[in-house]
Order: sequence, then structure tokens, then C-alpha cells
Amino acid sequence: MNIEAIKEKIRGDIGREILFFKEVSSTNTIASHLAETTAEGAVVLAESQEKGRGRLGRVWISPPGVNIHMSVLLRPKIKQRDATLLTIMSAVACANAVRRITGLDISIKWPNDLMASHRKLGGILTEIRTDAGKIPVAIIGIGLNVNIGLDAFPEDVRKIATSLKNETGRSYSREEIIAGILNEINRWYAHLNTSGGEMLLPEWKRLSSTIGKYVKVTAGDETFSGFAESIDSEGRLLLRLPSGELKRVSAGDLTVLR
Ligand code: BTN
Repeated sequence: MNIEAIKEKIRGDIGREILFFKEVSSTNTIASHLAETTAEGAVVLAESQEKGRGRLGRVWISPPGVNIHMSVLLRPKIKQRDATLLTIMSAVACANAVRRITGLDISIKWPNDLMASHRKLGGILTEIRTDAGKIPVAIIGIGLNVNIGLDAFPEDVRKIATSLKNETGRSYSREEIIAGILNEINRWYAHLNTSGGEMLLPEWKRLSSTIGKYVKVTAGDETFSGFAESIDSEGRLLLRLPSGELKRVSAGDLTVLR
């Protein structure tokens, strides 16, 4: 990984400091440990993770040399109740950067999966600290499958995952993609802090492959099927159930039915 090649492409405070590690437990864990002593916008980047973490306590497969595993440290000016906008912002930033660099039709599956051809290309794990309704520290963990071959995934993951290389047959410069994502975050984060992110929800909806579809959502022990109408400003999915009731779902696993 050529850190200088990333840094020279960065336009803004986010990504000016990059802490690079060959192997870590999880970049989110390292970023959290460094939060007190590190400036906003610092990025923890690792070639591989021994304990890469996904949403809902899952493992994130993170072998060396092929993919992107990074965590961005932020001190957002938004209120705690708007914390979901951080994940929405990150998904929008990643989708737009990867679209521009690869030309692929990347979409966002609620809540925060980056998809290519209906398969999972990447994901975002946002972890925040809160204090009196504010967010003194937010860590945005981004995992993106770039040059990995599908054979390297365990069989259950292989069926649902993809990588940029698998989609196009060519390898990509991880440095270019990292810089592209960080520059998009620079742009959208400034918008979030200055205007409360009013453009974010429309942009997320534009990129979404979930809204306007019939979906099934499993949340804990419960499963709901219905029409995904929209998301609200807290990132909750607005699901119209067959009974006509509008259900707001905060977290869960989603499958598009048709
Ligand atoms: C998901 O389940 O979709 C979220 C996956 C997030 C993975 C990234 S890789 C970098 C950062 N460090 C982690 O341990 N997880 C996130």
C-alpha cells in the first residue's frame, strides 16, 4: 500500500493523517483506542484484520493485500439523535466514489450495504460515543472488496458477496479508491456539519436499491414483509405492511423480494 500516493490525492482534512498497519484486530477498535490523542479526520488503514467486525456481531473477512479496511475518526457537530446520518453519508460517499472510478452501477441496500449486481461489495460499521446529546467521537469503519477472488471467501459468503475484480475482471488501485472515498467524505461531511445534511437523504434514496421494492426484513425474532416506501431522517426504513400499517424498522437484515 502506497500511503503517499493516497495522501497526494486528498483534498480536505479527512485523510490528511493516515495511520497504516499491516495487521490489526479491527481498524475500528484501533481508531477507538487512538481517539483521545488523534485529530479529527485521521484514518486507520490496515492490510488485514484478524477480527474484522461486521454489523450485528458478524465477522468481516479481511485477508491481506486485496481489499480496503479503514476507519475514519470524526467529531461531528450534529446531535446524537441524527447519528444515523453519519452512516448514510458514508454509504453515499462510498457509492459515488466507486461508481465514478469503476463505472459500475453501485447501489445501497438498506441500511448500509454497498451492492453490485445484487451482491454485497462492501459495508459500513459506524460506532459512536455520546455525551449529553452530542457525539464527541464517531468512527466510520469501511470495508470494500476490491481485488479479492470469490474463491477466497468461505462458501456461505461466496454466494452473496462480490468484489470489483469479480464484477469487471480487472484489478483496481486500492490507493485510488481510498482517496476517492475520502474525498467524497470530505465533501459530504462538510455539507452535514454546515447544512445538517439536507441533501443526504435524497441522495441516499437516489442510490438505493431498496426503496420502491417489496422486501422482507428480519429484525431479531421478527420478520416483516412489505413495500419499502422510504427512510426517515433517523435512517429507519418505512415499511408499508399488507395490513396498511406503516412500520418503522431501525435495524435488521433485508431481502428484496421482487
Ligand atoms: C457490515 O456488516 O456490512 C459492515 C462491515 C464493516 C467492515 C469494516 S472493515 C473496516 C472496519 N473495521 C472493522 O472491524 N469493521 C469495519
